[in-house]
Amino acid sequence: MDYFKLNNYEWFAEDVSLCTIAKEVGTPCYVYSRAALENKWHAFDKAFNNYPHQINYAVKANSNLAVLNIFARLNSGFDIVSGGELERVLKANGNPEKIIFSGVGKTIDELTKALQVGIGCINVESEAELLRLNEIAINLGKKATIAFRVNPDVDPKSHPYISTGLKENKFGVSILEAKTLYQQASKLKGIKIQGLAFHIGSQITSLEPFLEAIDKVLELNQDLNRMGIAISHLNLGGGLGVCYHAEMPPTPSAYVSALLAKLQQTDLVIHIEPGRAITANAGVLLTRVEYIKKQELKDRYFAIVDAAMNDLLRPALYEAWQDIVPVKLRHNETTLYNYDIVGPICETADFLGKDRSLFLEPNDLLMICSAGAYGFSMSSNYNSRPRVAEVMVDNNNFYTIRPREDLTELMKTEMMLPF
Ligand code: LLP
Repeated sequence: MDYFKLNNYEWFAEDVSLCTIAKEVGTPCYVYSRAALENKWHAFDKAFNNYPHQINYAVKANSNLAVLNIFARLNSGFDIVSGGELERVLKANGNPEKIIFSGVGKTIDELTKALQVGIGCINVESEAELLRLNEIAINLGKKATIAFRVNPDVDPKSHPYISTGLKENKFGVSILEAKTLYQQASKLKGIKIQGLAFHIGSQITSLEPFLEAIDKVLELNQDLNRMGIAISHLNLGGGLGVCYHAEMPPTPSAYVSALLAKLQQTDLVIHIEPGRAITANAGVLLTRVEYIKKQELKDRYFAIVDAAMNDLLRPALYEAWQDIVPVKLRHNETTLYNYDIVGPICETADFLGKDRSLFLEPNDLLMICSAGAYGFSMSSNYNSRPRVAEVMVDNNNFYTIRPREDLTELMKTEMMLPF
């Protein structure tokens, strides 16, 4: 979390005190650092040097328009998985020609819109999708530029819910099936073959799974060449992990160097789709302690805070660990107690961290670290809780980039039956 620092016993995002943001915007509230976002994007970009490449930021990690616009200004590409994400990227001034559309269930409307706006590439994940896309393209008098997303059957050694490249997963087509599909696609009037893609999973903390997958797809590429099918770009997906606690994932530069060592001999343009590795450590979630409650059976306390699983789902869904730190350190307090940091939602899964050694009192401000990826973007209104505010820090300024929802907004489109 390079751009979050301790200054005189108090945490800052860049040059802005997190206490000030909490006071002015309220809690819970996500805070992002513009410099951290830009810096990580550049870390990937610079690592490629002059090698032809495209960085397609994975929108799902954090899809706030301000975040997307920061990457659009850097001339980034974008990886999207829905019509909603497409609209967001266009609204944020993203270049449609640099958008890649992945996902197993693209609807007719989504594919039509993607072709109408001149999207860069559609990553096709089944024969049925190929045929649907061909028909839509022909009806529009266009050709759809595609890659097939193959499933290389590689274990990313990550949480099972975020592994996508094993043969039992729903994503992509097998390498064997890909050969038939490329041949089939080469004969379709509405289709232009351009690439070959995979994405094996997320929060991957070693290089081996990526390298294993690359070996498999390079072999496929050779077979395709022999069949007379030419591919000009290879999309390696996203998935590079980050440090949430004690993990030691490769840096963007080590990751890109390892990829290029394998790919230097090819003349393929390389696409990557990092999401988490760019945004996770560029954001925190601020929350305030409401109550402290002693646990019955253990020598432990509950710290009941104002954020909950609807605001940050990762701990509940994946039992993910995110560091939790008081925003103002107490220099005179040495006794620590064990706390489960929990939200007010009526679910036992509503925890943000378990068994944390801290000293807490009601009204203390906490920061849940590494919350810039899959934090707000996975939030919901469960328990009719309005979604929280988002703030972007830029040097010594901060901007509300999404105000806290209010209750009127929450219900404004609902209707009671007239009788
Ligand atoms: N490309 C594709 C096709 C993807 O499905 C994903 C993520 C990415 C790129 C970006 O992966 P990243 O670089 O962020 O690892 N909600 C989970 C993560 C789900 C990732 C889904 N796909 C979490 O909070 O851990």
